[in-house]
Amino acid sequence: SFEVALARSCLTLQVPAGRTILEVVREAGVEMPSSCEQGACGTCMATVIEGEPDHQDVYLNDAEKRAGTKIMTCVSRSKSPRLVLDI
Ligand code: FES
Repeated sequence: SFEVALARSCLTLQVPAGRTILEVVREAGVEMPSSCEQGACGTCMATVIEGEPDHQDVYLNDAEKRAGTKIMTCVSRSKSPRLVLDI
């Protein structure tokens, strides 16, 4: 599992194995748009402020994945123990 801190919502949440960032964020009462929920459309994208995303999507290109500033919250996870998102 890893921790996701939502900078604008002032929330820190735990994302266990088998759950997605998107699910955990919504459960905490924060609205997030989504569509495909398979990492393909870009609707659930969030900006990464801190931490290293573990990209599982097919939406971002390689350069965008390396830059690490955007994440698809429906499928991607974290390589660092903590991710800070601009949500
Ligand atoms: Fe389509 Fe996440 S909802 S990429």
